[in-house]
Amino acid sequence: MLTKNLMEFHSYVKDLSLSDTVMQMDNFMQHGDITTLEHVIAVSYTSYILAKRWNADVRTAVRGAMLHDLYLYDWHIKTEERTPLTHTFNHPKTSVANAKKYFKPTEKELKIVRSHMWPLTLFHCPTSKEAFILTLADKYCAWNESFGIYDNSAYRKKIKSYLVFVKKTRASQNLKNR
Ligand SMILES: [Fe+2]
Ligand SMILES: [Fe+2]
Repeated sequence: MLTKNLMEFHSYVKDLSLSDTVMQMDNFMQHGDITTLEHVIAVSYTSYILAKRWNADVRTAVRGAMLHDLYLYDWHIKTEERTPLTHTFNHPKTSVANAKKYFKPTEKELKIVRSHMWPLTLFHCPTSKEAFILTLADKYCAWNESFGIYDNSAYRKKIKSYLVFVKKTRASQNLKNR
């Protein structure tokens, strides 16, 4: 059973988090043993908390965060078109393209996805409170994930409980659709 906050969080993103496309992010590692899916849920839930606290548009902040790393590949693997370094600068553009391809994001959601790596993406800077929240939440989570702060935390247990809920809901929906 989810906490009250996680239930409210789910109400903003359920079409995204229950989709096959977003679930694909569970196949790729982000930092350490944390998948891209777990990372985007952590960033999205952190954005939910900050957006509520700072009277921002919670729906935009949370949905943009769920889509911010929708690049759908393993960034550690070097290919002819991509290295981990070029990934750092180019993946917001890929996430925007995939968000448009698979969902119907608003212009504001797309803008916050595009600027989430700022200041590295110098010419794509945050232009709204929600965009600023995403750049902060992403850096906060990435830092905690990269330096082991997130590993055995109560926060991770909370994020994992949402991940388990999503997987169980998907499984029961698949059974019903058979
Ligand atoms: Fe990113
Ligand atoms: Fe990220």
